[in-house]
Amino acid sequence: MNIAIVGTGYVGLVSGTCFADTGANVTCVDVDAGKIERLKNGEIPIYEPGLDELVKKNVAAGRLKFTTDLTAVLDDVQIVFSAVGTPPDEDGSADLKYVLQVARTIGQNLNHYVVVVTKSTVPVGTARKVRKAIEEELAKRGVDVPFDVASNPEFLKEGNAIKDFMSPDRVVVGVESEQAKKVLTKLYKPFLINNFRVIFMDIPSAEMTKYAANSMLATRISFMNDIANLCERVGADVNMVRAGIGADTRIGRKFLYAGCGYGGSCFPKDVKALIKTADQNGYSMEVLKAVERVNERQKSILFDKLKRAFDGESLEGKTIALWGLSFKPETDDMRESTALVMIGLLLEAGCTVRAYDPVAMAECKRRIGDSISYCRDMYDAVLEADALLLLTEWKEFRLPTWGVIRKAMRRPLVIDGRNIFDSEELEENGFEYHCIGK
Ligand SMILES: NC(=O)c1ccc[n+]([C@@H]2O[C@H](COP(=O)([O-])OP(=O)(O)OC[C@H]3O[C@@H](n4cnc5c(N)ncnc54)[C@H](O)[C@@H]3O)[C@@H](O)[C@H]2O)c1
Repeated sequence: MNIAIVGTGYVGLVSGTCFADTGANVTCVDVDAGKIERLKNGEIPIYEPGLDELVKKNVAAGRLKFTTDLTAVLDDVQIVFSAVGTPPDEDGSADLKYVLQVARTIGQNLNHYVVVVTKSTVPVGTARKVRKAIEEELAKRGVDVPFDVASNPEFLKEGNAIKDFMSPDRVVVGVESEQAKKVLTKLYKPFLINNFRVIFMDIPSAEMTKYAANSMLATRISFMNDIANLCERVGADVNMVRAGIGADTRIGRKFLYAGCGYGGSCFPKDVKALIKTADQNGYSMEVLKAVERVNERQKSILFDKLKRAFDGESLEGKTIALWGLSFKPETDDMRESTALVMIGLLLEAGCTVRAYDPVAMAECKRRIGDSISYCRDMYDAVLEADALLLLTEWKEFRLPTWGVIRKAMRRPLVIDGRNIFDSEELEENGFEYHCIGK
């Protein structure tokens, strides 16, 4: 089976590589010539565990190729996936300009039946717009080429993307023809050979499923953050509460962690986009509006705790160590990360920031330059620091040697934004320790 994946970002590169690994011939397409050049030279533009080896293996086998020119491969493929970005527009709605650009290019060059599958996260009604854009271009050419549109939202998690893609909980596919269903069944069969968990549905429902899933997950996080903030005020411990409610199978244990706010490329923009879709349809998503407000507040909660710890003393001139910059562990993605909000607040308050992240420092430097110091390791970051703030729960931060850190810091103050440290251990080592919801 020959397929093209347009948009070679997190989703496009992972999907393309995984499809190639099942034997499909995949061409990944991107308008970013630099990115394609790097990929052709064997360089992986993103950090994602396991991706490097899998790309190399499939390139070597001749099943995975990279190009900037969709038109050069269109005649040879049965499926075109669109996995381009759908960033938020100024008003919060999803910007579909890249999705529709791809559709127009397809319409301008299509000569045989293909299934055009949108993998990007897009609002309900987008497949209809994709169909219309392709039809308009075909009409301009005066040709009538059959094609189908389909929706196949992606649920992979950055940091665990290969595993999620290779053994998904489920695959959601929206189709409007038996032929498209047949083609996509064939494509997904190798991933789910023992237990075929492809859920076929109509296209609007598939488009909606992705937003509903991310919004539900974001809701759980904001809900737990709200509970955590109340726990602090009434003398309860959110970790105990989490264990207590998570044991209820109707609630479940996953995604119930309090912290310093969600970020990333998906939750913030998808929650915004769903609120916008509702507004445009004369409905107000009250729960999601609150989810967003709680999250915005939560992203500065460590700064509030820091100010309280200094009890009115100015933060100007203080040195603050940050552990973790990416929006979550196992990725270098900093889109909407809490670290960016915290760095902004700390610099505005006149602090010096010393940061360490196992993989995201180059990305941070690309975004904010040298306004902070990038440190060699987690111990280097705490040198002469007046406080240590934990923002991302990378594994290597879980068992630090507190005695060394205590000696290196000017003031033994630790504020844990992900509740990963043991308060007793910290206190035994002479630290003042604050976390979330306790
Ligand atoms: N990142 C995730 O974890 C994740 C998970 C599920 C779904 N999604 C969704 O998938 C989509 C892609 O997300 P991403 O994180 O991979 O984005 P990304 O920004 O990493 O990659 C998008 C790529 O598309 C390319 N592009 C833009 N216009 C193009 C065009 N006309 N032709 C070819 N390439 C073009 C860009 O150069 C870029 O490389 C978004 O809608 C996102 O919401 C992302």
